[in-house]
Formats: sequence, C-alpha cells, structure tokens
Amino acid sequence: MYLGVNVDHIATVRQARGTSYPDPVEAANAAANAGAHGITVHLREDRRHIQDQDVWRMREEQPLPLNLEMGNTPEIVDIALKVKPDEVCLVPEKREELTTEGGLDVVGNYAALQSSCSRFRDAGLAVSLFIDPDPRQLDAAASLEVPMIELHTGTFCERKGAEREACLQELISGAKQAHDAGMQVNAGHGLNVENLEALFPVPHLHTLNIGHSIVARALMLGMHAAVHEMLTLMRGYRP
Ligand code: PXP
Repeated sequence: MYLGVNVDHIATVRQARGTSYPDPVEAANAAANAGAHGITVHLREDRRHIQDQDVWRMREEQPLPLNLEMGNTPEIVDIALKVKPDEVCLVPEKREELTTEGGLDVVGNYAALQSSCSRFRDAGLAVSLFIDPDPRQLDAAASLEVPMIELHTGTFCERKGAEREACLQELISGAKQAHDAGMQVNAGHGLNVENLEALFPVPHLHTLNIGHSIVARALMLGMHAAVHEMLTLMRGYRP
C-alpha cells in the first residue's frame, strides 16, 4: 500500500498570516525523505491554501509523483492541462465547505466529467474520481473508463460502532466492485493514526491519500517522523 501525503494544510498555516513560510514544497521534500510515495495538493477555486505557484513548484522542486486534486471547473482544468501533474483527482467542491464533503456525483455530472476525463486522457494524465462507495457511482466511473477511483473514507472515519461497521461493509463492497471493473482502488479523507487499522479489512487498497492528520502530527513531531509513523502503521495492511 502506498502513501500520498497531502500538504494543503502546510499552506493553510502560511496563508493564515500571508507569510512565505511554512513552505509546502519543503514539506513535500521532507515527506519524500521519510519514504512517502506521492504528494497531493488541492488547488481550490478560492485558493484558500495551495496557490497556483505552489502547484508549479511541486512539479519542479520535489521528486515524487504529483496528484492534483481539483473541482471540475474550466479554470482549474486549464491549469491542470498546463502543469501536467502525474494524476488528477476530480472532487466535488463547494466554496462554503470546510473540507471536501462526500464524493462526486458521477451519475448527475456524467457529461461534464466525460468531457474533462477525455481531455485529460488525451493529454496523457491519469484521472481519478473521488467517490462514495455507492454501486451506481462506481458503475458510472467504470463506464467513464478512468484508471482509478479514490473511495471517500470521511464518513467511515467520523462514525463509531455499528454505524462505522456499516460504512466499512460499503467500502469493502465498493473496493471489490471497482477492482472487478479494472480500476485501481485508492482511498482517503479523515484517516489518522487512530482509525487507520479499522480500514484494513477493505481489500485491493493501492494508495491512501492522507493530509490533515499528518500535518497535525508534524506540528508535534516534525514531518519526517509523522510520515514515518503513518508508513509504519500502513505496513500492517494485508490485502
Ligand atoms: N482525498 C481527497 C480527495 C481529499 O479531498 C482530501 C482532502 O483534501 C484528502 C484525500 C485528504 O483528507 P485529509 O486531509 O482528511 O487526510
């Protein structure tokens, strides 16, 4: 299982004061040195954390594959086509939300997603869709012929007891469905050192994208130790 480290919230601290530090590229390099496998940034329409310049610098100044998370809007699609990250992950985006809330409605936005997916495919970028483990949404993703999806784990992470168990069963069947349809299965949102192991019954997990909890741990331990700690826990996964 691979770890993609999302460094958005390094930029959140920087933007809080309008300083030039802390630098998300420096954090990405520290994550790379600690053994992370990829870097994720989300260029939001409102630029609340990551800025355009950060995305360009991530391409040039850190060694890991770059996954650009983004809403499916013309402005950001154009930027992605210019920057050419290794992967783009399309997510739903609302201005008023604190963080991404739930997966994409692939069924409801099929035509718009189809158009962007084919532009990305033509440009040689791998496309991922961030979706809930809902059989209809997974079917729609498969028919868009994307190579991978990212299962939204946010609800699973928030719930406790029987409710969490129900979310786990949905993630298990979603992962099987995506894998059987030939898509790589990634997962992310809300994962931390406390809840990670509870996700391990989910089969076929390829990459976990983890941001907020790693940055929060990095405040206490440093980036290298925070990434190392997560990688050590992930080694317990038996697919
Ligand atoms: N995956 C996706 C698609 C996301 O939108 C986010 C949040 O930016 C993450 C993973 C990482 O979530 P978290 O910061 O809760 O680890």
